[in-house]
Amino acid sequence: MTGKEMIGFIGLGVMGKNLVLNLVDNGYEVAAFDLDTNKVNDAIAQANTEVPERQQPIHACSSLNELLEQLPSPRTIFVSVPAGDAVDDVCRHLIDAGVEVDDIVVDTGNSLWTDTRDRESNYKEHFTFFSTAVSGGEVGARFGPSLMPSGDQKAWSRLRPIMEAIAAKVDATTGLPIERREPGNPVTEGEPCATYIGDSGAGHYVKMVHNGIEYADMQLICEVYHFMRHAMHMTPSEIASVFREWSHGPLHSYLIEISAEVLDQQDEYSGKPLVDVILDKAGQKGTGLWTAVSALQIGTPAPTLTNAVFARSLSTLKSIRLDASKVLPGPTGFTLEVPKDKLIEQLHDALYCAKICAYAQGYQLMQMAAKEHGWTLDLSSISKIWRAGCIIRAAFLQPISAAFQRNSDLPSLLMDPFFSETLGKHQGNWRAIVAQSALAGIPAGAISSALAYYDSFRTEVLPANLLQGQRDYFGAHTFERTDRDDGKYHVRWSEPGRPMEKA
Ligand code: 6PG
Repeated sequence: MTGKEMIGFIGLGVMGKNLVLNLVDNGYEVAAFDLDTNKVNDAIAQANTEVPERQQPIHACSSLNELLEQLPSPRTIFVSVPAGDAVDDVCRHLIDAGVEVDDIVVDTGNSLWTDTRDRESNYKEHFTFFSTAVSGGEVGARFGPSLMPSGDQKAWSRLRPIMEAIAAKVDATTGLPIERREPGNPVTEGEPCATYIGDSGAGHYVKMVHNGIEYADMQLICEVYHFMRHAMHMTPSEIASVFREWSHGPLHSYLIEISAEVLDQQDEYSGKPLVDVILDKAGQKGTGLWTAVSALQIGTPAPTLTNAVFARSLSTLKSIRLDASKVLPGPTGFTLEVPKDKLIEQLHDALYCAKICAYAQGYQLMQMAAKEHGWTLDLSSISKIWRAGCIIRAAFLQPISAAFQRNSDLPSLLMDPFFSETLGKHQGNWRAIVAQSALAGIPAGAISSALAYYDSFRTEVLPANLLQGQRDYFGAHTFERTDRDDGKYHVRWSEPGRPMEKA
């Protein structure tokens, strides 16, 4: 029909269906299979309604055998099924149906990166297992997500035109997303938000960290909202206005924009602001947790990312919290003395500085993971593909990309002159918010953890000296000296005179 190859697609749930519609907008025919045939029929109906003049581009397949028969060899098959066993089920069924060694099977789900790494090697006798982590939710999938592809390089050469076509696009001059949501009229100009990340699950690792940062970014916004709502007694719509104003500055981001929309929404049942009737128990699907676990395993500090996961866990203890709210005393007699305008400025700066620290943690985690797993991650390019399409898309990604462009070995984002100067300039307001939150009894774990991270990071001598002394005392774990570079020492603490020896 269009001269472009026909693509196979398995799994037409919310993300799958939207990716299929995105593919057909970009001129690809799709052979589609889902265990629930209604889902395929829905996609066909939507494609026909959206662009009635277009020749039917989606072919419903009643089995994987039929799907394989429809596709030209070597085949390209996208899979959008829940992460975990379902991906292996599809792979095994494809093998049974006769998938061939040159065929590429692309997992587009939120898979655990180690599963992806294992699948790349487990299936290589049968077909090329490739992965493309997708960020952007259903609208992103429909009109342009951010894509983090990884796997075999030769497969990437074949997939690249497809991925670049369906990805979100950024205006090269402004660095801002090109937003056009018109079925049948995809964005074809601008820089595509798809870049090859690496092999051995690198793409899913990077997506995982994206989500870890997403958790932190969301939690930081929530803490700022909480302070305005409960310490400053602002209404949700007043807070929405502040967020909208912030959207014009360095805090411009998709997450700030949608937060304003949520805060402005009225509940159709009660007439109250919707946010006031949403139960305060946060869900999670696991990617934030995986990021925290990876940071702990590698030994990279990511306290703000981890704090955001714990904040969700703590929120789910609703009934215990309700009991606790009746017995655990908070501060008494504290009143905010700072004028409202000044407090809003302080909150802006606290959010900005904490956000820089959260991103610094995520980026350092990627750097450490790359060393550990033998990947070469181009952090400047990764920042570029996060400028549009994905959930953490923000103006802020442009200076991050520039920072890693200036120095690809930057030891920390905090050390880049742009960010160190920004932190230096705004830290006073950030500290004021942490202090006032503590005095008012308003939880601000992510904002505070970011400040503690910043202060620890810039501190020449940390109390780890005493900690090493404690470890040596009870466990003979030894310590190094600041004045000698000749190995480890141990004090025989239980002997008279506590003599020191070289370990
Ligand atoms: C994205 C999102 C997407 C999803 C996550 C987060 O980048 O498009 O991160 O992957 O929303 O699953 O979900 P939880 O908040 O439930 O963990």
